Amino acid sequence: MARRKLAAGNWKMNGTSAMLAEIDTLARDHADARCEILICPPATLIARMAERAGPIAVGGQDCHAADSGAHTGDISAGMLRDAGASHVILGHSERRADHGEDDATVRAKAQAALSAGLVAIVCVGETLEQREGGETLDVISGQLAGSLPDDATGAAIVVAYEPVWAIGTGKVPTLEQIGEVHAHIRAALTDRFGPEGEAMRLLYGGSVKSANAGDIFAVADVDGALVGGASLKAEDFGGIVAAL
Ligand code: G3P
Repeated sequence: MARRKLAAGNWKMNGTSAMLAEIDTLARDHADARCEILICPPATLIARMAERAGPIAVGGQDCHAADSGAHTGDISAGMLRDAGASHVILGHSERRADHGEDDATVRAKAQAALSAGLVAIVCVGETLEQREGGETLDVISGQLAGSLPDDATGAAIVVAYEPVWAIGTGKVPTLEQIGEVHAHIRAALTDRFGPEGEAMRLLYGGSVKSANAGDIFAVADVDGALVGGASLKAEDFGGIVAAL
């Protein structure tokens, strides 16, 4: 089954209005890209970025599970959609670690994203301790089982495999390790969701840059990347887009 490749950039807590020029460059240089291109800037930039993004999709980095209410500082999925976002990253390891988000929380947020018509990019990944303890596949299985809603579809859910130890460290798993986990994720998704699980895109994330993107994208069941540091500059991210 053909799955459209996705190059997704997660700007994390980086970027002010001065960085909006990066989206102009991306839109100009990759108007005819074969893959889908997504940038998830800080929430403060979503609306302005969406106005000028052209073919580049814009997404949020988190949302609350509720539609509205007394949740100071939070943003709902519907608000993201209203601001021009089409996607939202959920369950990133930094959210899980910094904000104590567990699988049930991520699942509730994913449900809210689906209800609002957003594509949810649900992140999973093991810590170094779990990898060294031989627990990687069990950890991933548990996160998938707990974080994905039962009505997940191939169009509405993307899964990102981000080993925690590879994020921002310059360390990348071997291609065999990436292939093993992606095959495991694909099997778990098709087992639970059937053809919809086959249609879900699987991204690899963790120290992706233009120099290693081509090799990573050649691994079976890698349908793109979720990129942090190398997505902040259009030129760097463009090299990754070009490898897809
Ligand atoms: O969500 C993307 C991310 O966690 C990977 O970050 O900087 O290692 O590409 P980085």
